[in-house]
Amino acid sequence: MMIPAVLIILAYLLGSLSAAVIVGRLLHTADPRTQGSGNPGATNMLRVGGRKAGVLTLAGDMLKGLAAVLIARAFTDEPAVLAGVMLAAFLGHLYPVFFGFRGGKGVATALGVLLGLSGWLGLAAILTWLAMAAISRISSLSALVTAAAAPVYTWYWLGEPALTGAVALMAVLLFWRHRSNIRNLLEGTEGRINLGGK
Ligand code: G3P
Repeated sequence: MMIPAVLIILAYLLGSLSAAVIVGRLLHTADPRTQGSGNPGATNMLRVGGRKAGVLTLAGDMLKGLAAVLIARAFTDEPAVLAGVMLAAFLGHLYPVFFGFRGGKGVATALGVLLGLSGWLGLAAILTWLAMAAISRISSLSALVTAAAAPVYTWYWLGEPALTGAVALMAVLLFWRHRSNIRNLLEGTEGRINLGGK
């Protein structure tokens, strides 16, 4: 009982490390919470801080999701515990205890979590995002399509109700956090990824 609780708390604390805010401070670039879309995530860091800041944020947020799940898997294979750990890391990113509970939209953290669960699952999600980004050049749309596909991938590769349910819940939360992007997409005003920035 003790170990699952510790793993879940650790996952939440790891998830609470907002890579965008940390990278912004370390590189002395913009605070993503006050510029661009206001979202502390890789897309907004690319937008307001440049390519290096965007890539480091993406790596940092993926890594914390990956680490939370891999640490948990070193102790247990119990699906219910892993589901709790995944959700805790994801919720840490959305509502970080270290940054006033004002976090991001969860895309990179979710990709890291999926990679930690299964390499094939993570790869399928990353490829889905990349394919959608190549076609649309819209980060949020790529994230939404990937989120919708992720529970199907999870069921296909792992066939485990608790894990599939946790991924589906993450997808619902991710859609909720993207409500302003969905509005912009419907109005045709959502911005495109610009790799030619700073
Ligand atoms: O990862 C978040 C992305 O899907 C949208 O970010 O800054 O364009 O709202 P943003």
